[in-house]
Amino acid sequence: MADDEGTIAVPQSVIEVTAFMPDARNDPHPKLKALRENCPVMRDEMAKTWFLTRYGDVRATVNDRSFVRHPLQSEEGSISRQLIEDDEAPSRTSILFLDEPDHSRVRPPLAKAFYTRINKMKSQIEAIVDETIEAAPASGRFDLMAEIAVPIPVLVIARILGVDEDRLPEFRQWSEDVILGLNPVRTPEETARMETGSIALDTYFRELMEARRAAPGDDLISDMVQLQASGDAPLSDDELVINLGALLVGGNLTTTDLIGNGVWLFLTHPDQMAALKADPGLGAQAVEEVLRFEAPVSATSRILETDKAVAGCPMKHRQVVFCSLASANRDAETFDAPDAFDITVKRPSHVAFGGGPHICIGAPLARMEARRVYQKLFERYPDMRLPEQDLVWRALPFFRGLERLDVEI
Ligand code: HEM
Repeated sequence: MADDEGTIAVPQSVIEVTAFMPDARNDPHPKLKALRENCPVMRDEMAKTWFLTRYGDVRATVNDRSFVRHPLQSEEGSISRQLIEDDEAPSRTSILFLDEPDHSRVRPPLAKAFYTRINKMKSQIEAIVDETIEAAPASGRFDLMAEIAVPIPVLVIARILGVDEDRLPEFRQWSEDVILGLNPVRTPEETARMETGSIALDTYFRELMEARRAAPGDDLISDMVQLQASGDAPLSDDELVINLGALLVGGNLTTTDLIGNGVWLFLTHPDQMAALKADPGLGAQAVEEVLRFEAPVSATSRILETDKAVAGCPMKHRQVVFCSLASANRDAETFDAPDAFDITVKRPSHVAFGGGPHICIGAPLARMEARRVYQKLFERYPDMRLPEQDLVWRALPFFRGLERLDVEI
């Protein structure tokens, strides 16, 4: 909240900077700046968490291997515990919250197979982007999120995993349903949909694994069951199913928002759109600048395994440290003119994908999809513009994306 002179009050709690609060939902950056400048290491006793907002502190914390990740390692009542499902036992978690020694056993073979797959399928992934853009309306006004930003990531991951064409409509529905799990204040009806979707996906992944064991295909599930059989991927079937699900939950909404936030930024910064059109070689840098400027995931967390100083403050065993990626990416200590969206300058690396051992496994895929979308979209619609509308940002804490984005051709 700003006072009469426009000064932003320094937030006292983490909730104040999430999309639960209307002002932060519309634009979290003024409050994050107030924290960065006045209280860069904030303790929130209600949420039982620390909150770091400076780039240097965030970077050092996400990279530090002495922290752990699983919410049940944190103190009673912490925000991390409140955000997980009751049955999120350490044995039922994906790599997202997996700790050592299991993280180092499960992630490397999955990451290696995933990256090999993405590289092998680059032209297929780009074809999905192109076809989706070509299928969008040729003229008039439409919602870019519904027509382009939502379908592309789910169609791409379905192709990578090897989902059968005839099961695609169901797969899209289940993917949407499981993502409801990201919303801690979902309705009972949404919880029921989430649970049904999650069971259906689980069952389908197991079916696919059996089918690909019998007759391997050209897809990630075939790769993983073969690596399992040869002993090169020491994962149980349960672990494989949980982590295939994590590729969906971790990758769909986030990539959707990278696409949506980017299109919105280019349409509201015509000089940057012109720069991209004039030099398509700026494509990769443009994606990085969108990630920096409006990070689709605004925060990640770590948990202390021992008492120690973090960001210069003494902290205790089992305390949670939330790292604001959105804030770190706008820190003037690291980025010149941080509040300018500028794709033409080479900037230091952002932290939109986190860092260290848990750095986003899907980063190369998200980058590949977004780069192709920006290129193809503005090629197909050279005169695309933003019509008059009230922009609605999603009310999901720790994520930043638009509910809809109407564009006019
Ligand atoms: C723009 C798109 C994306 C953003 C902004 C994003 C962001 C993040 C962030 C911030 C983390 C936590 C990192 C940390 O704590 O250090 C993460 C982890 C993860 N992401 Fe992404 N992500 C994106 C796309 C994807 C995609 C496309 C996939 C999969 C297909 C994916 C799957 C995952 C998984 C499985 C993890 C857990 C990794 C681990 O803990 O070892 N993400 N992501």
